[in-house]
Amino acid sequence: MSDNLVIAQVSDMHIGASDVLFKGINARQQLIKVLKVLAKKPLDLLVCTGDLAALEGEPEAYAWLKHLLSDFPHPYLLMAGNHDHVGRMQSIFEIPDKNITEGMLYFSRVIKTTRLLFLDSTSYRIPRQQLDWLHNELSVHTEPALLFIHHPPLLCGCQFMDERYPLQNRDELWQELVQFPQVEHIFCGHYHTDKIVSKNDKFIYLTPSTVFQIDTENDTFLIDHTKPGWRMIEWENNYMQTYVDYL
Ligand SMILES: [Fe+2]
Repeated sequence: MSDNLVIAQVSDMHIGASDVLFKGINARQQLIKVLKVLAKKPLDLLVCTGDLAALEGEPEAYAWLKHLLSDFPHPYLLMAGNHDHVGRMQSIFEIPDKNITEGMLYFSRVIKTTRLLFLDSTSYRIPRQQLDWLHNELSVHTEPALLFIHHPPLLCGCQFMDERYPLQNRDELWQELVQFPQVEHIFCGHYHTDKIVSKNDKFIYLTPSTVFQIDTENDTFLIDHTKPGWRMIEWENNYMQTYVDYL
């Protein structure tokens, strides 16, 4: 049994060093608007699943985000994506040392009796240390756990992202995950779309970006639309309800 846990997931906010527009979109304003909506919800946690920064972990972007989140009324956790820099995230957001191992931001947290696991795929891989850590966590703790990774651990039927930017050692990670039935729900970003992929009794939930969404049917980069999205995750008595919403 688990208590009623309510989480909002935002992803791929791609905040730049300055308030410049990206393809006519103001990433900062879009995020401000999304957080205004989420602030009013009864959240236990906000999870930001990586690519907080536009390109390469711009410190100005992190400083701006830290200031914005200082007014957010609910607890939040930050993850790193391939456009982030864990060292700069740690110093600017004052992330505790225990959440960072060998320069990687991976950790677990128990909230309202539910174990949440967070991996670091900034290198487009889940390195061996993290696979071993995950194996150990799931061997010791056999109750249902929710997993968060910036990159999805499978190809997702999204042509451009699957061909160009997938998680490189996804097979290795998947072989690990299939050993542990308690991981049924896996929340990802990176793909800039809203989709659910299922395999081996597990569900991978792709959560849209707060900036722009990518056309999944094309092998070149094509923006589908620029409505900012987020995911709501409601977990009660081991029953999952999750949906995406847009502004
Ligand atoms: Fe990404």
